Amino acid sequence: MAIREILEYPDPRLNAISAPVETFDERIEQVVADLVDTLHASRSIGLSAPQIDVREQILVMDHSDDQSEPEVFVNPQILARSRLGLVEERCLSVPGLVTNVLRSTVVQVRAFDAAGTAFERELSGMPAVCLQHELDHFDGKLLADRINWFRRRRLRAALEKARKAA
Ligand code: NI
Repeated sequence: MAIREILEYPDPRLNAISAPVETFDERIEQVVADLVDTLHASRSIGLSAPQIDVREQILVMDHSDDQSEPEVFVNPQILARSRLGLVEERCLSVPGLVTNVLRSTVVQVRAFDAAGTAFERELSGMPAVCLQHELDHFDGKLLADRINWFRRRRLRAALEKARKAA
């Protein structure tokens, strides 16, 4: 288990498409363990594999107060969605950006766990929104792609400045 580096915008690797997992083996278990460690270290609620430079359809979420309930979704697919709402989102890969996104607030999802067992679940509220945000990462889509060019230009300048100061 290890805390991995989280790629940050505008790293082009974040815009790549992630492939479905085909073989559930030790390597996948390792990626899942690293994702959970990295998620908990960053005190966030969701993280997807492409954010740690693994372009496969694996995401983890933990909505508990004490980081005790990590949930793993491999090859997740949304079967049904409803109740649109405008939701404020952030992303570990786009530090400093907070923006509203139109999302379904109830989703029915089918996925596999780390061992390759299929399951179905209904998510509502923040977990539903978070799942859709992480799914966007599999398509190489970031919050930074959802804002207008003027905000994006300001964001890039701010991130560049922060990196130079670091
Ligand atoms: Ni994100």
